[in-house]
Amino acid sequence: MSLHIRTYREQDRDAVIALWERCGLTRPWNDPAADIELCVRSREASLMVGYKEDELIASVMVGHDGHRGWIYYLAVQPGHQGHGHGREMMTEAELWLTSRGIPKVQLMVRTGNQSAEAFYGALGYEAQDVTVFGKWLNDTSTS
Ligand SMILES: CC(C)(COP(=O)(O)OP(=O)(O)OC[C@H]1O[C@@H](n2cnc3c(N)ncnc32)[C@H](O)[C@@H]1OP(=O)(O)O)[C@@H](O)C(=O)NCCC(=O)NCCS
Repeated sequence: MSLHIRTYREQDRDAVIALWERCGLTRPWNDPAADIELCVRSREASLMVGYKEDELIASVMVGHDGHRGWIYYLAVQPGHQGHGHGREMMTEAELWLTSRGIPKVQLMVRTGNQSAEAFYGALGYEAQDVTVFGKWLNDTSTS
């Protein structure tokens, strides 16, 4: 059975954060509630959630920077993985981008997350010949 996918609402907050924690996507230096707030305030980003009956079991955050599309926080609850729901969430995120004229989507996979690499490979994604550089712009982050 396919998911009911819709835009995040405030009532989803606790379930989304619990999903990210269960899927190992949270890190001490990322406040998930702050990440949600930043996304929902942006006109160029969307947080989507996937429901199976009345249970929130999937999420994806999508946005663009005026050039490329980016995807974050793709998650499917462990008990529901392997049934095509990750692919469904990605299709929805890609549609969000193509409907805005964004020609290419990119995403970052943490080193060692081989199952995510295999998943994205199955969806036609390829490793890019680039090194990602980053720098914190606030003084509260430590890593
Ligand atoms: C990655 C994740 C979202 C995939 O969701 P999913 O619902 O299990 O994936 P799907 O069932 O839609 O799989 C889609 C395709 O990927 C393939 N795939 C998924 N996981 C795979 C794995 N570990 N190894 C090989 N192939 C895999 C499936 O075989 C399927 O291929 P097909 O459609 O050609 O048959 C899910 O495993 C997850 O939430 N992981 C933890 C969080 C995470 O790592 N997120 C990504 C952060 S970058």
